[in-house]
Amino acid sequence: MMVNLRRIRKRQLQQLMMTCFALSVVMVYWESLDYNLMSHIKSYSLRHLLPSLDYITANLTISREEARKFSNHQYLINHKWKCADRDILLLLFVKSSPENFERRQAIRSTWGDETYIERTLGVTVKVVFALGVHPQTLERNRFQRKLLWEDERYQDLIQQDFLDTFHNLTVKLLMQLGWTHAFCAHARFLMSADDDIFVHVPNLIRYLQEVIRTGVKDFWVGKVHRGSPPIRRKDSKYYVSEEMYPWLLYPDYTPGAGYVISSDVASRLYQASLNLNASLYIDDVFMGVCANAMGISPQEHVFFSGEGKAPYHPCIYNQMMTSHGHVKDFHELWRHATDPSVESVSSGLFGKLYCTLIKVRLLCKPIFINTYPCKAAFF
Ligand SMILES: *[C@@H]1O[C@H](CO)[C@@H](O)[C@H](O)[C@H]1NC(C)=O
Ligand SMILES: *[C@@H]1O[C@H](CO)[C@@H](O)[C@H](O)[C@H]1NC(C)=O
Ligand SMILES: *[C@@H]1O[C@H](CO)[C@@H](O)[C@H](O)[C@H]1NC(C)=O
Repeated sequence: MMVNLRRIRKRQLQQLMMTCFALSVVMVYWESLDYNLMSHIKSYSLRHLLPSLDYITANLTISREEARKFSNHQYLINHKWKCADRDILLLLFVKSSPENFERRQAIRSTWGDETYIERTLGVTVKVVFALGVHPQTLERNRFQRKLLWEDERYQDLIQQDFLDTFHNLTVKLLMQLGWTHAFCAHARFLMSADDDIFVHVPNLIRYLQEVIRTGVKDFWVGKVHRGSPPIRRKDSKYYVSEEMYPWLLYPDYTPGAGYVISSDVASRLYQASLNLNASLYIDDVFMGVCANAMGISPQEHVFFSGEGKAPYHPCIYNQMMTSHGHVKDFHELWRHATDPSVESVSSGLFGKLYCTLIKVRLLCKPIFINTYPCKAAFF
């Protein structure tokens, strides 16, 4: 009996010491323990403790007149009749910049080719590019002349007179919402995308048609950032000051690289934006703030990559929606990803099994790779 008790005590003591040791290591390295990871864990857990983020809306609400100052820019290039067709499935807004002519050309001849989409998929999609003016005064006129020439030819630029800079992305979002409200409110869906992402339009169209069949309401899909913390490191591109956003976490949002909303959501986001302080310059977060004000939350789709890049493989092409970080390989990827043989790779029981194994190998890695999540292997 005595012996037993002593043994137990000894083991407990050992456990206690181990715990203390582990704790002190954590305490010592707390600060340098990946700061990012810790703030993510903190805000993620907070997100689950806080059912409502209404206080954010209350705090960022301003008068209409004040809010108008963020969005009352003049159109320099516009196409009011772009959406004259009655039946438009998708309005695709590509966020571009004056100097990115090559990217727009690549998009026009691949995934943004309206004629190809109409012919092969039998639906109407409108593709427009959202732009501000070149930020450098000396360059501005030269680029503006080029843009006018480009637009004469392609009739697909939408431009307002704000400086096209990273910190004006929220202004660009307001332009997209305002333009959609004014000129294209009847399009069933609105997509906003960067000009360096690849959109697998055929997969996306099939998916949206399925969504329509099952009923569209409050539809907002993409990769979802749930309970992300604001970045307070001053050297970061995404730095946001406490003054601009004092809370520990952002409302849920989808990265601006590529997301899709239904027309009712677009309309409500527009309404919300009329009374919010848009000085928060991270556009996708600001959109999350608007959505939060309207009680709309995003749903995750594992094949929307956010800032991640898709692996190159037919088993992936079959399901991919968006992939980030493409410019040079648009044409090649488009050719491969829309090749009719892609579908047969994963068909049948063996095809499915083969593709699951391939996807596990490509997506499920012990180290972090910025691509689709591991669970996408099983979809
Ligand atoms: C918003 O929050 C900040 C910091 O908590 C506070 O200083 C400010 O007065 C609030 N503004 C409104 C309109 O509630
Ligand atoms: C945004 O655009 C406006 C209007 O051109 C300009 O005054 C402002 O400086 C721009 N902001 C940034 C951060 O570039
Ligand atoms: C909007 O927020 C900024 C801080 O990010 C603040 O300086 C500005 O005064 C606010 N605007 C209004 C109209 O309250």
